[in-house]
Amino acid sequence: SLKKLENGLLSVTSSEDCKDAAVSDGNGNESTVSITVVGASGDLAKKKIFPALFALYYEGFLPKHFTVYGYARSKMTDAELRDMVSRTLTCRIDQRENCSEKMDQFLKRCFYHSGQYDSQENFAQLDKKLKEHEAERISNRLFYLSVPPNIFIDAVRCASSSASSSNGWTRVIVEKPFGRDSESSAALTKSLKQYLEEDQIFRIDHYLGKELVENLSVLRFSNLIFEPLWSRQYIRNVQLIFSEDFGTEGRGGYFDHYGIIRDIMQNHLLQILALFAMETPVSLDVEDIRNEKVKVLRSMRPIQLEDVVIGQYKSHTKGGITYPGYTDDKTVPPNSLTPTFAAAALFINNARWDGVPFLMKAGKALHTKRAEIRVQFRHVPGNLYNRNIGTDLDQATNELVIRVQPDEAIYLKINNKVPGLGMRLDRSNLNLHYAARYSKEIPDAYERLLLDAIEGERRLFIRSDELDAAWSLFTPVLKELEERKTLPEYYPYGSRGPVGAHYLAARYNVRWG
Ligand code: NDP
Ligand code: BG6
Repeated sequence: SLKKLENGLLSVTSSEDCKDAAVSDGNGNESTVSITVVGASGDLAKKKIFPALFALYYEGFLPKHFTVYGYARSKMTDAELRDMVSRTLTCRIDQRENCSEKMDQFLKRCFYHSGQYDSQENFAQLDKKLKEHEAERISNRLFYLSVPPNIFIDAVRCASSSASSSNGWTRVIVEKPFGRDSESSAALTKSLKQYLEEDQIFRIDHYLGKELVENLSVLRFSNLIFEPLWSRQYIRNVQLIFSEDFGTEGRGGYFDHYGIIRDIMQNHLLQILALFAMETPVSLDVEDIRNEKVKVLRSMRPIQLEDVVIGQYKSHTKGGITYPGYTDDKTVPPNSLTPTFAAAALFINNARWDGVPFLMKAGKALHTKRAEIRVQFRHVPGNLYNRNIGTDLDQATNELVIRVQPDEAIYLKINNKVPGLGMRLDRSNLNLHYAARYSKEIPDAYERLLLDAIEGERRLFIRSDELDAAWSLFTPVLKELEERKTLPEYYPYGSRGPVGAHYLAARYNVRWG
């Protein structure tokens, strides 16, 4: 876990420090944390939440006294929940010998309560069970809302009235989507605030928990060489790229209501943009950082319709295998216009970034899986060596690539002399390849975020005014696309996406990396 030191640097607290901090309130009263996964029978709970909790336990980051409760409507016994959970637990951090023993110990701390999401009575029954485990200690309670968004309010209402802590803290992690436009997002915030204070609400954007996204500020603010270059003076364009090599398989019903702009751009990519482009915060204090993020989001120019390209994947046969089109999914209407791909050019109207295109590209069912930030620098003025590199000026510019996933890396493309007697230049990489540099596997984003929520660290969660600013930016253009029933450009499953994205980039003299 991260702790801020007096000199402003961050240090990692050991798991022992972390346990001690969570066990006692300073007056010698022991405390306990009860984590309730609401929607425990679902995909996210199985795939991410329980494995992340186990990884935290395995690494010694959970407090001494903790209990995990699954809550959902499905009928399950404790044993059935443990069986379900055990199938997704892995000892991926390292293969220490006591892994299966640790798994058993963890599973013994997992329980299940079946109930309706809108039943205060069912949550009161949960409260009773939680109390039994808490055994007179100070009770701290974390609820993780891993349910579809139409259930958020009922669950929060019932949890807060019938199962909140009476003597410790109560926090609620809310999963995206936080609405689908400014209006619905504001309504959701208003309803949540009927039952919770803002500092109890932890809106999760799991991209903020990714190692290289967290590292962005370290890279910028703790190295002398980057920050002076971080402006329109030296940066020609910034690209934020998300691509997946699979479609919406299994999530078509959800996806069709949202589309790729809401699913990826308005949150994950925009959050990265804000961290990338914000001014230096006064300190590493949570509110100082979030204040800077809000400022940069509010400085953004409204997105123009002509600066957006949308696409949708269609079926494609390759090597004898037919990959389904988006509308082949039974849960998607056959005439759906929902974009599964989008590219957009965004601009920040401030002194640092005026005129620099921030190009976003996000797509499903493309040829590759990756998430990257690419920073293309300006040309060297009067470059003496242009003719040695070739006639294409693009070849000569530096590019900084932050590969968020997979195979995390930060590399800088530089021009270099090819060794030998002649004077020939080529482009080489100064490369920080994480797998080669760091032997320890990188924790999953959900581990970091769950730990932060348990510790009350809100730095990586979205404040309501940040959310408002993000929706203000995207809502008008989403409305326009939908009201005009803009046809997406169709692209084959597994391709590089619509050619329109290249025309959009070319308009700003950019070539996608
Ligand atoms: P699921 O659709 O799997 O739903 C979770 C649980 O909620 C289900 O097991 C079900 O439990 C209950 N549920 C589902 N639909 C309804 C309904 N219409 N009415 C009442 N209860 C219902 O969702 P996920 O686990 O995929 O996602 C949970 C949340 O996380 C969502 O908000 C999603 O947008 C978000 N999310 C999911 C990601 C993923 O990869 N899955 C990624 C990022 C965010 P039961 O029937 O037992 O009550
Ligand atoms: C989720 C989106 O927020 O992020 C999914 O809803 C997407 O559509 C997922 O697949 C990608 O996350 P990651 O961590 O696998 O890159």
